[in-house]
Amino acid sequence: MSQSANHHVLSHSLVDHCITRLRAENTPVHEFHQLLQIVAMVLASECTRDLATRQVEVRTPLELTSGVRVSSRIGLVPVLRAGLGMEPAFRQILPTASVHHIGIRRDEATAQPMAYYDLRTEQPPPDLAIVLDPMLATGGSACAAVQMLQDWGVAEIRMAAIIAAPEGLKKMAESCPDVRIFTAALDRELNQNSYICPGLGDAGDRLFGTV
Ligand code: PRP
Ligand code: URA
Repeated sequence: MSQSANHHVLSHSLVDHCITRLRAENTPVHEFHQLLQIVAMVLASECTRDLATRQVEVRTPLELTSGVRVSSRIGLVPVLRAGLGMEPAFRQILPTASVHHIGIRRDEATAQPMAYYDLRTEQPPPDLAIVLDPMLATGGSACAAVQMLQDWGVAEIRMAAIIAAPEGLKKMAESCPDVRIFTAALDRELNQNSYICPGLGDAGDRLFGTV
């Protein structure tokens, strides 16, 4: 994994293989969905590497020994729609995590985020919330998601994305520098329509076959 400030990029041959297939314009929808799961699984493993644990005792068939149990209460926050594609893999790694969907979509003309489904919960906030969204482009949607979680009172927020653009990382570093961002790729730039280049196109459309 390479790293700069609060941004961590996976370094893994299988992930690079999957990203290449995700980028390919002729990859069919069912394969796109499978590939997203594989990359999300590796991201989930990486972004939970240092979760807080507490010491516990465990009796093996041979003797009593010491071990650990994860002690953080974790909330997964998939951003509709495309974040749904990462949710199953994260839930496999973190089966006891709570899941809090939020709806944000970009205005096609201005690329400004528009929230349409806010957090629906009376629960106390988790210790750590992980925002799931495959694409970090301008960073507008991610910052809006982070703001909702901060308003809820979440102390620690991380973001897992498949592909990030430098523009989005810059915006996140400026507006929420404490959020650690885990991605599988860092791309070159945004185009005039605020799409990531080379990117993979519209993640939600490709995931759900609505192109
Ligand atoms: C995509 C993506 C992010 C957002 C990233 O969602 O899943 O949420 O764009 O762009 P930004 O960093 O410039 O805000 P989109 O608005 O296309 O909605 P969808 O998932 O419903 O297709
Ligand atoms: N949203 C996407 O789905 N893809 C991009 O390249 C940018 C925003």
